Amino acid sequence: MRQRLIRVTALRDVRRLPPGVGARLAGVLLSATALCLPAAPVRAQAVNSHPYVLRLPPSHPLSVMAQLGERLFHDPRLSASGKMSCASCHDPARAYGPPGSAAVVLGGPDLKTPGFRAVPSLSYLYRQPGFTIGPDIENGTEPVINLQQQAQQAAGHSRTLKTALAPQAAAVNLVPQGGLFWDGRVDTLEQQVDGPLFNPAEMDAGTSGAVLAKLTTWYARDFTLLFGPYVFKNPSLVLAEAMFAIGRYQIESPDFHPFSSKFDAWLAGRARFTRAEARGYQLFNDPAKGNCGACHLDQPGPDGTPPLFTDYQYEALGVPRNPAIPANRDPHYYDLGICGPFRTDMRDQRQYCGMFLTPTLRNTATRKVFFHNGVFHTLQQVLDWYVYRDLQPARFYPRDAAGHVVKYDDLPERYRANVDITDAPFDRRPGDAPALSEREIADVIAFLGTLTDGYEVSAAPASAAPPGGTRRTASPAAAAPEIAGRR
Ligand code: HEC
Ligand code: HEC
Repeated sequence: MRQRLIRVTALRDVRRLPPGVGARLAGVLLSATALCLPAAPVRAQAVNSHPYVLRLPPSHPLSVMAQLGERLFHDPRLSASGKMSCASCHDPARAYGPPGSAAVVLGGPDLKTPGFRAVPSLSYLYRQPGFTIGPDIENGTEPVINLQQQAQQAAGHSRTLKTALAPQAAAVNLVPQGGLFWDGRVDTLEQQVDGPLFNPAEMDAGTSGAVLAKLTTWYARDFTLLFGPYVFKNPSLVLAEAMFAIGRYQIESPDFHPFSSKFDAWLAGRARFTRAEARGYQLFNDPAKGNCGACHLDQPGPDGTPPLFTDYQYEALGVPRNPAIPANRDPHYYDLGICGPFRTDMRDQRQYCGMFLTPTLRNTATRKVFFHNGVFHTLQQVLDWYVYRDLQPARFYPRDAAGHVVKYDDLPERYRANVDITDAPFDRRPGDAPALSEREIADVIAFLGTLTDGYEVSAAPASAAPPGGTRRTASPAAAAPEIAGRR
């Protein structure tokens, strides 16, 4: 196994390293021994005095393929009901997340069939790596061994702690990472479309023949232009191309990854945090406090790629069972994430039961449905649960017949040991002080609000950097064509 390098770049203003190590370690690579650094005192800053030149994805006019995808994405005629398009559940006005506050959306022919999981945001998936188990996802090479073998290898390794001070360290864990859907069962945006299109609880488009007939009627011209006159002679090709087009739309359209939040403006030195936001940012990254940054990565990459607030990894957090999901009326039904029921290839890897993908927190404040089962509806509820899950479990979990609180009740008892009880803020035990006070929770929520896209940068530069600019880049990426603060 290759040793991970840890790059200390961002947050040098916010999270001061000990003097001996030096506060100006931008771009310096520390080896994994950096893990041993004690948690340094932090200082919140309203203005980023060392702004980044962020490397944003290129923004070109949509290709013809992506334009076709855009129309398919918004076309309700493809569904059985004639009323449901991808956009019905992935609302463009809410970062392509759920349109309302219901835990699951109703689909099917009469829009009465409930789904099983909360609708994830479709934004910021353009860099999502494929599903693997193990540390080396960054070079994008195909795994040479299959998933079962990877799981076998991983089983022998104990898990290291995730801390916001050195989040990538967790990558030495041989943990599942990458993939799409809450359980990672699909690898690419182009592959996944037939799922929702034919899922009886979603668009329920019927047989591929039915979809083909619709595409032939309404999209004949586009398909013939793009794929030639014989495309309709090969039905499976038509469907594959339609799915590919919808995937291209999500990858090419900047609407799916605008990077126009206040946080991005702050990174680029063009916005000023309020005091609450600055404190919240500090708490988000403090390994002894929120420690959120350990899993929801918030530092730009070495080449200036803006952070996506996920490490792409899976965790079992043990969120409470949600009685609002109709499937949960069956006491024997459990959503186990990676090990089923919707993905079947990892069914026997019991160590992964209960694990779900860490979602991006960009635009999270626009959601009214949180976690894979949509059990919470406000960020206040989410944060209360993060802080008090093990301190006051009776606030979140039901009691059994004997009156005992059933912690992690959305997992069968035998899998409850998979739940993360080591990474802060989950390392607290009854009697300990909460990781965050009420005021600190409010500060973290204020910071999360800076992750919502569509922030208007005011004309006056917020930068405290000296005029003439010691504008720092995370790397020589300054030469990159995509410029920071493109707005
Ligand atoms: C009835 C609501 C509904 C409709 C309609 C729908 N989806 Fe989804 N979508 C979901 C849910 C729920 C999930 C999560 C399912 C899971 O994890 O098992 C999801 C997951 C996804 C994901 C994975 C996202 C991630 O973060 O990993 C993608 C991509 C996606 N949908 C694209 C589409 C496309 C494209 C369409 C149209 C062809 C579509 N969806 C139609 C509800 C819907
Ligand atoms: C150990 C890794 C880890 C840490 C630490 C962590 N999270 Fe999460 N977070 C996750 C995972 C995994 C999920 C999805 C779990 C699920 O749905 O079952 C999640 C989900 C969320 C969600 C719901 C997002 C959505 O779209 O449904 C929010 C909000 C959130 N986390 C905020 C935070 C905040 C704030 C902190 C710090 C107080 C934090 N997280 C700390 C791993 C982590």
